[in-house]
Amino acid sequence: MKVLVTGGCGYIGSHTVVELLNDKQEVVIVDNLVNSKKEVLEKIKEITGKEVKFYEEDLCNLQELKHIFEKEKFDSIIHFAGLKAVGESVSKPLMYYQNNLISTLNLLECMQEFAVKKIVFSSSATVYGNPKTLPIKEDFPLSTTNPYGTTKLMIENILTDVYKANLDYDITVLRYFNPIGAHKSGLIGEDPNGIPNNLMPYIVKVATNKLPVLNIYGNDYNTVDGTGVRDYIHVLDLAHGHLLALKNKKTGLKIYNLGTGRGTSVLELVNKFQEVNHIKVNYQITKRRDGDIDACYANCDKAKEELGFTTKYTLEDMCKDSYNYVKKNTIQ
Ligand code: NAD
Ligand code: UFG
Repeated sequence: MKVLVTGGCGYIGSHTVVELLNDKQEVVIVDNLVNSKKEVLEKIKEITGKEVKFYEEDLCNLQELKHIFEKEKFDSIIHFAGLKAVGESVSKPLMYYQNNLISTLNLLECMQEFAVKKIVFSSSATVYGNPKTLPIKEDFPLSTTNPYGTTKLMIENILTDVYKANLDYDITVLRYFNPIGAHKSGLIGEDPNGIPNNLMPYIVKVATNKLPVLNIYGNDYNTVDGTGVRDYIHVLDLAHGHLLALKNKKTGLKIYNLGTGRGTSVLELVNKFQEVNHIKVNYQITKRRDGDIDACYANCDKAKEELGFTTKYTLEDMCKDSYNYVKKNTIQ
């Protein structure tokens, strides 16, 4: 199968490309490198022994995108490309709406023009807002608290409408929980520039002395130890979920949670990281971060039943692999 992977140089995209290549799928990446680097392509080659075809292009450029579709004749699409920083989306909402929505609309227009009927879309647990009960199931009410989340929900709604008008389309929406970890080789992973927003990249920066102290945002939540609880999933398990979604025989519009079903608090994650990596992480408790919720973890029964999705990596693996990647790629 010839698969277009948008955003394939990014964190989750690059791990998924490796998974697809190992499964002998033919992959073409389109990425404008706004949040990734071209060197990822060499790393992918080093891991898989395979060259990936790459277009450095912005999906918002419809004419260029059409040329790529005309030339490549894709069978299916996995759509990762998008901007993802929650805080930045609050200060630059137009940038988020423009990039995330226009890129997706252009992709859908190309699908129609070039008769590509299968797409897998990267959504997020953020579309559940503040859930009333846990674990979260796919049919829970949806709401968002920031422009980034709203782009995800809007795209889900657009996909639903497009499906209603094209019942022969095969659309899978994957709602990710909190991806962390990295490829076992330490060649690809996540190491954002500047000060990270997300917990694991921040822990790793403190562990590698790039930042002095981790701020734990609140210890008065209604959770096991007062710190926020999330469902951390190894990026390799998440990548495998995409392969399953791509090969799934069930057609139509399908929505799946991809998580582990287990909640872990901030303190539990920090302690596990220290224990498995034999390193101290300085932290202090500070006030809550605006918009954060107490707890969020998935019910993944639907993905298990319909996709055969299960996770195989533990929290230990996630902590070890995140640290290994950054250690290996840090110039001391
Ligand atoms: P990432 O930033 O590492 O990867 C996204 C890639 O898309 C980058 O390589 C970027 O250069 C590219 N891109 C962005 N806009 C583009 C455009 N207009 N044209 C072409 N390329 C473009 O992010 P990620 O963590 O790999 O996330 C992948 C997807 O999963 C995103 O849609 C994100 O919103 C979603 N998601 C991520 C998380 C998470 O915690 N990482 C959680 C839920 C959902
Ligand atoms: N946290 C800290 N200190 C930090 C960073 C985070 O204490 O420096 C805490 C947060 O308060 C929260 C937990 O760690 O309790 C996880 O926070 P992250 O920022 O890593 O993740 P979020 O659950 O807030 O959000 C992430 C992505 C969203 C996505 C969501 C669900 O950033 O885009 O997961 O998939 F929507």
